[in-house]
Amino acid sequence: MHIIKVCTGCSCDKNFSAESIQKAEHVLDIKVGETTKDGQFRLEKTGCLSHCELGPNVLFCKADGPLSAVMIDGEVKNNMLPHRLEAELKSLKENS
Ligand code: FES
Repeated sequence: MHIIKVCTGCSCDKNFSAESIQKAEHVLDIKVGETTKDGQFRLEKTGCLSHCELGPNVLFCKADGPLSAVMIDGEVKNNMLPHRLEAELKSLKENS
């Protein structure tokens, strides 16, 4: 499962993270806090990821076990504006 955590901290919010979340919801056909029907993607909000000047930032994690066992050891990707996050998610979907 891919866990997509979009930062909603102040700096990312000013850099359109809300719009990126809307785009992710559309691409994945779920709302924040939900998992896709096929169990491949989960969309979440997160607090500051400490890359503020490069926002909006998104943490991409993978989990092979129960969500309660997920470690925060994913990769933070910067400048995840709506169109860039859309492209990233589509690429992940094609390769899942
Ligand atoms: S506010 Fe998003 S990384 Fe700090």
